[in-house]
Amino acid sequence: MSKLLQNKRILLVIGGGIAAYKSLDLIRRLKERGAMVRAILTEAGAQFVTPLAVGAISGERVFTSLFDLADEQDVGHIRLARDTDLIIVAPATADLLAKMANGLANDLASTALLATDKPVLVAPAMNPRMWDHAATRRNADRLRQDGIRFVGPNTGAMAERGESGLGRMAEPIEIADAAATLLGATGAGGVLTGRRVIVTSGPTHEPIDPVRVLANRSSGRQGHAIAAAAARAGADVTLVSGPVALPDPAGVKVVKVETAEEMLHAVGLALPADIAVFAAAVADWRVKRAKNSKVKKGKSGPPKLDLVENPDILATVATLDDNRPALVVGFAAETDDVVAHARKKLKRKRCDLIVANDVSPASGVMGGVSNTVHLVSAAGVETWPTMSKSDVAEKLIARFAELLG
Ligand code: CTP
Repeated sequence: MSKLLQNKRILLVIGGGIAAYKSLDLIRRLKERGAMVRAILTEAGAQFVTPLAVGAISGERVFTSLFDLADEQDVGHIRLARDTDLIIVAPATADLLAKMANGLANDLASTALLATDKPVLVAPAMNPRMWDHAATRRNADRLRQDGIRFVGPNTGAMAERGESGLGRMAEPIEIADAAATLLGATGAGGVLTGRRVIVTSGPTHEPIDPVRVLANRSSGRQGHAIAAAAARAGADVTLVSGPVALPDPAGVKVVKVETAEEMLHAVGLALPADIAVFAAAVADWRVKRAKNSKVKKGKSGPPKLDLVENPDILATVATLDDNRPALVVGFAAETDDVVAHARKKLKRKRCDLIVANDVSPASGVMGGVSNTVHLVSAAGVETWPTMSKSDVAEKLIARFAELLG
């Protein structure tokens, strides 16, 4: 067993669900990987596993109450929340997720989760109807937006007889692996160490006049998440971004551009690279001659826009004779016949992989935090379950590393 979590301190919050029995195994898995694990057992959690069992397996004192004078003098809930590298909530019940999403702090677990400045990984576990309830979905979306990371839930049989569906807690090994990835401990310095990666992200803005632009809808979330994940995996990353309202990802070189032509130029300067990911929603057309002064409304009616086609950045890079990155990845945002269109795009643009997604208004992908993607390559089509854009990014990076070999 490689010690991917060597010297990492993990605070495990055990909520009140039948899956709590698996948390004992999770503690073993985390310790096998070298982590030091301290646990907070909620009052409901203690109905399923005992403090004695958790303490025996973790080899550490178990924390149960916010109002334990001895604990407060000794460690204190604020220090408990901060003297750690990661907090894992497993099982994360509907109640715990609701508390977290709303900033409630009425017991030790919720107070520690509100007081922490460390990454938090949650492993939801509940009945499929509870997971599917609008309130839980709202809470989960809010938590993803707040930067909380999710592992699972998985599909399968429930503890309740005859019930099955999406809601089973992820297996302890999956949770331990997710913890290692989140802490950037993916082995010998990360799966993309020594690789150069270019990512385009966001929309482009094509000026009509000094105050008006032609633009595509794109928050840049998916592209930025990919750049961030590549950096965490050890790559040397250049992110070429159109106008977005997102912070620059940590450890990434960010080049800010407005137009498609500027984006193409910046990508050219960032070459050579091993991987190029084109997640930007580039405007297909620009106004042939943008006006230098504001176009005024007048009797002659709306202005006629003389449009010309923008360069296709992806296709340009994918067809380079010299300097073509080993892995060229395109995105296909479609509103219908997602996979069929993506297949055509793969061939037409000569890329190695297309990440296709449905962006019809009903999907909520545009501007949202979740995504359902299909990976389309010469080898075939693979559809991934709906997950957060950061999880999509994490999985894509793992796949890119595999493809590069
Ligand atoms: N792309 C690009 N430069 C452009 C247009 C698109 O690099 N000028 C890239 C996008 O970043 C994305 C992929 O090409 O990776 C797909 O873009 P899309 O606009 O969906 O494809 P189109 O070529 O416009 O095809 P269609 O209009 O048929 O959807």
